[in-house]
Amino acid sequence: MAIYPEEVVEEVRNRTNIVDVISQYVNLQKKGSQYFGLCPFHNEKTGSFSVSPQKQMYYCFGCGKGGNVFSFLMDYENMTFKEAVEELAPRCGVTLPQRELTAQERQRADRRSRLFEINKDAAAYYYKMLRSDAGKQAMEYFTKRELTPDTMHKFGLGCTSKYSDSLYKYLREKGYDDNILKDCGLVTIDEKRGGHDKFWNRAMFPIFDANGKVVAFGGRVMGDGEPKYLNSPETEIFNKSKTLFGLYFARKTRREQFILCEGYMDVISLHQAGFDNAVASLGTALTEGHAGMLKRYVKDVYLSYDSDGAGQKAALRAIPILKNAGISCRIINMSPYKDPDEFIKNLGAEEYEKRIQNAENSFMYQVRMLQNNYDMTDPEKKSDFQKEAARMIVMEFPTQLERENYTESVAAKFNIPKDALAKYILELGQSGITARRELGSGDDYQKKSLKPKDDGMKMSQRLLLTWLVETPDVYPKISLYVNPEDFEAGVYRTVAEEVFKYCDEGNPVDTARIVDLFMEDEERKTVAALFNTTVGELTDNSDLSKALKETLLRIKKNSLELAQKNGADLKSLVEGKKTLQRLERLDISL
Ligand code: CTP
Ligand code: MN
Repeated sequence: MAIYPEEVVEEVRNRTNIVDVISQYVNLQKKGSQYFGLCPFHNEKTGSFSVSPQKQMYYCFGCGKGGNVFSFLMDYENMTFKEAVEELAPRCGVTLPQRELTAQERQRADRRSRLFEINKDAAAYYYKMLRSDAGKQAMEYFTKRELTPDTMHKFGLGCTSKYSDSLYKYLREKGYDDNILKDCGLVTIDEKRGGHDKFWNRAMFPIFDANGKVVAFGGRVMGDGEPKYLNSPETEIFNKSKTLFGLYFARKTRREQFILCEGYMDVISLHQAGFDNAVASLGTALTEGHAGMLKRYVKDVYLSYDSDGAGQKAALRAIPILKNAGISCRIINMSPYKDPDEFIKNLGAEEYEKRIQNAENSFMYQVRMLQNNYDMTDPEKKSDFQKEAARMIVMEFPTQLERENYTESVAAKFNIPKDALAKYILELGQSGITARRELGSGDDYQKKSLKPKDDGMKMSQRLLLTWLVETPDVYPKISLYVNPEDFEAGVYRTVAEEVFKYCDEGNPVDTARIVDLFMEDEERKTVAALFNTTVGELTDNSDLSKALKETLLRIKKNSLELAQKNGADLKSLVEGKKTLQRLERLDISL
């Protein structure tokens, strides 16, 4: 499991202050010993997201998300554990050991860096070609499409020569051998005919990864011809379904949303017109991988797909993928033009900005597209449409509030009698059709956490662990009566074992370290909850003592009952009973 030695990870964790890291993403305010802010993981109006410098943990009392500095980056930036460690290490001056790479990993890393070099050399080659005599035709093409020299430079545009093996020869001369060239996606190597270029007689668009490294190319025929675009195949450094064209630039935008479009030229025209937040998925429909990438940067996306049938279909496919990734989207209407590139050429940036402001709610868009399939002059078809719209509302929105709001909007927009629609929706709801979406987004989280599923027993166990962490002085008293075996098997017990160990040794509990013993998101949440249980309004010490005693009693009783049920041996049962009796008589004072 460990990619870096535990000591190194520990050093990074210890040298990093979670408050500094989270402050970069969340506006935190100090209240007492904790910091509070608006939770970045769910929508809320009042801050229930807490960060504790003592525990080096965060915890949202609203949605239950929690963990340490690594899990924060994993959740928020979609990083892996390894990436999170690598992100933080240089910031706190820890040098990560390289020797950890196995021979196989090292070989893989070498190959990847060779492939990056090849793509970079190829990009430079194409770039020069465009600005030479041989690139005249491509230069005219780009110029006709109204790209400025600055834009062409920024996007590193280029072109191939008209010979079918000139890049191959160039790369060979640079010293790359066939063994690596055959896997770079830019040439094909045939035993008989030798090496040939994949791209020739094309205008070339380099594709950068999020860090600005060239990982692939798109090549467009100049004029008409098939296929219009040719793209690099997937390689060891190019994963189509995770790459977004324009991301390297868009990630630096100050806007809070991205514009998602379909084509290379769309992205480039938008950037040229000042929309530095445009990206596109390339030559493939939007995937979950793309949505995950987007989620690293933004919560909202404007869809600016082609306005033709294919574009509409693509938008309808993209919407649920985005929603499932927790991204809300609106649809930009480009009519009467086909795509953002054409739109901007004809109506300009200001007009496009207006279209952004007027972008359509994605659900309303879905209903509108649905309506296109029905003949609205036929009362039967019209009713079918209306029923389907009602069903969509029920399926999409779990809360009464949303259902009512959308009922109102849909009724108004599509001329449906509102009361009849509302009634039908109510019936659907009662007939057991439930929302596809779980309670789990937006303010629904609040509700979920108000009626915690777990019973009082777990609550008591959490309370005790939080207690031990916050006031380790009570440990000597507690340990006389309760031990880790009294905690629920699984995460609770593992955590209890760790906490008791620290206390035994007289050390403060390293809560952030304990989080890293758990790899699953759900487990980390549980751990965070274990360390963030509050006693409520108890303030004076006699109340606290009483609460502590009751908590210990509950835990002990429960564990004894379980032991009995599971047929524990008589001796230990008797021991347990005695302990319980001592505890009942005890007057704990804090
Ligand atoms: N595409 C592709 N292969 C094709 C056609 C399209 O990979 N044969 C991808 C390209 O990424 C392209 C996008 O789909 O940019 C959108 O296609 P289209 O709308 O046809 O291209 P435009 O961007 O409008 O291209 P242009 O303006 O150059 O005609
Ligand atoms: Mn287009």
